[in-house]
Amino acid sequence: MFDVLVVGAGLGGLSAALKARESGASVALISKNAPFRSNSSMASGGINAALGSIESDSPSLHAIDTLKSGAGLGEIETVKILCEAAPSIALELDALGAGFNRAENGKIAQRSFGGSGKKRACYVQDRTGAALAQAALKACNESGVKMLHGYFLLKLLIENNRVVGVCALKNANSEVLAIGAKSVALAGGGYAGIYCGHTTNPLSSNGDTIAVAFRAGLRLVNMEFVQFHPTGLLGSGELVSEAARSEGGFLTFENGERFTDEMQTRDKLSRAIERETQSGRKVYIDARRLGKAFLESRLPNFCKAAAAKLGLDPSTDLIPIAPSAHYTMGGIEVDKSARTAIKGLFACGECAYNGVHGANRMGGNSLLEAAVFGKIAGENAAVFAKKAKAIAIDKIAQDTIAIEQKKIDRVIEGESRFNINALQKSLGKKLIAKLGVFRDANGLKDALEYAEYLQTLVGGLACVDKSRSNNVELTMILEFLNALEIAEVSALAALRRKESRGAHFREDYPLSSDRFQKNSYVSRKSDGFYSVEFLQTRSLAWYIDKLRRALSV
Ligand code: FUM
Repeated sequence: MFDVLVVGAGLGGLSAALKARESGASVALISKNAPFRSNSSMASGGINAALGSIESDSPSLHAIDTLKSGAGLGEIETVKILCEAAPSIALELDALGAGFNRAENGKIAQRSFGGSGKKRACYVQDRTGAALAQAALKACNESGVKMLHGYFLLKLLIENNRVVGVCALKNANSEVLAIGAKSVALAGGGYAGIYCGHTTNPLSSNGDTIAVAFRAGLRLVNMEFVQFHPTGLLGSGELVSEAARSEGGFLTFENGERFTDEMQTRDKLSRAIERETQSGRKVYIDARRLGKAFLESRLPNFCKAAAAKLGLDPSTDLIPIAPSAHYTMGGIEVDKSARTAIKGLFACGECAYNGVHGANRMGGNSLLEAAVFGKIAGENAAVFAKKAKAIAIDKIAQDTIAIEQKKIDRVIEGESRFNINALQKSLGKKLIAKLGVFRDANGLKDALEYAEYLQTLVGGLACVDKSRSNNVELTMILEFLNALEIAEVSALAALRRKESRGAHFREDYPLSSDRFQKNSYVSRKSDGFYSVEFLQTRSLAWYIDKLRRALSV
C-alpha cells in the first residue's frame, strides 16, 4: 500500500512521482517498459519556456501562440498555467542535470518551432526528451520513489467512485497482482503508436492508460485530434526533429526547389507535404548546407536515423520524408488540477486532456505539459492521499485478480489463430489511409468498421510462445486490444466532427464551423455502446458568462 501510485515512466509520470515524494508521500511508479523506452525519451527538438535568452519573450506571447495553434479549442485557464510555469520548470530541469545547450552569451540556448513567433524551445541537441527523462529519473531514484518496471496496468480498483489501487500484470512471471494506493496518477502516454509503421512513437504508445480509464467509466475528450509530424523518415516514420528545419534545413522536391514555408504549424505543413506526396511527388529535407560538423553536433539523432534506416547522410544527401503520426491531443478528461471524475484519480501528460493543446499542439509544448501538469498531478495526489483514509482492498483485489488472471491465462494458453505483428501492421495501414492527414465520411466509416471487424478476431489472438517469463507476445496482444478500442473511439469522434479544425481535416467539410467550436466527449454506456456529445469549451463558456454579466442578461 502506497500513498501515491504513478502509472507511466515518461516525463509526466516521473515529474508526478518526484513532486508527490517531495510533498512527503510514499510513492511507487509502475511502468510496462524501462523508462528510456517512453515516448518522452524519443521527443527531440525542445521544451518551450519564455526565458528570452535570445530575443525578448513573455509567458503571454507563449500563451497566445499556444492558443492560436489550438485552433479555438485551447483552454485559456490551463494554457496560462502552462506558459507561466514554463520558465521556472526549464530552470528546475536544468538544475536537475538536463544539461541544456548554451548560447554564446552563456544563457540556455533556444530555437524556434513552427507556429511560435519566438526562439523559445530550450534543447539538448536533438535528444531533449531523453536528457530530461534521464535527469528526472535520477532525481526520482535519489528521492526514494519505488520504481517498478515491467508492470502492465490492467484495471483500476475503484470503490464507491474512489480509486483504491490498480491491478497489474507482472511481466517477469505473468502473474496478476494488486497494488493498493490512496491516490493514483495516470501518465501512460498517448496513442500515436497505433499507426504501426507510420508513427514517430514506439508501438507501445498505444493508449493503454486511456483505454483503462475509459473502461472505468471516464469520458475521453477530443480523441479525433491526432497530430501528424510533417517530417517522418519515409518508410519507417521515424522522427526528423523540427529542429532540422529550425536550424536551417529546407523542404524541397528532388530538384532542390522549395515549395512551402518550413516553419508553419504542423497541421498546415503536413497537409502541404501530403498533397504533394499524393500527387506523386517525393518530398525531402535538405540540410546539406548546414555541413557535417554542425549536423553531427546539433542533430546527431537525425544523422544516425538517416544512416540506419535509409543509408543516407544528411550532409551530402536529400532525406525523403512523409508525415508520421506523432502526438495525440485527445485523452482522459481532467480539470486544471489534473483531477478526473473518480476521486483520488489524477491524469497528466499525453494521456490526459486538460485543454492546453486544443485541436493542434504547438511543437515544444509536449514535454512542457508533461513536466508542468505532472508536477500538479503529483502534488494534488499527495494532498489527496494525506487527507484520505486507507481502504482495505483485499476483497476487491482478490475478485479482480481472479478475473484478470483468467484472461491472461487464456491469452497464453489459447490456440493462436492470428499473427499479432500482421494485425498491428494492418491496423496501422488502415488508420494512416483513412484516419490520417486527410479524412472523409466514407474513409472514417471504413476505419471504424475495420477496427470493429478486428475486434471480432480477438478471440483467436493467443501466444505462440507459451512462456510465462517476460513474454513479449503477451504484452503485444494486450496492447493491441487497447489499441483497437482507442482506434474505434478516435474514428467515431472524427466521423461525428463534421468540420475541419487543427489537426483534423475533413475533405468533405473543409471549413471550421462555429457549431463545432466545442470539445467532443466519448463515453461508454452501460450496454457497451459508445456515445459522442459535443460540449462548449470552458473558455467559451467563460466568455459567454462574462458577456452576459456585462450586458446584465
Ligand atoms: O520535432 C520535434 O522535435 C518534436 C518536438 C515536439 O513534438 O514537441
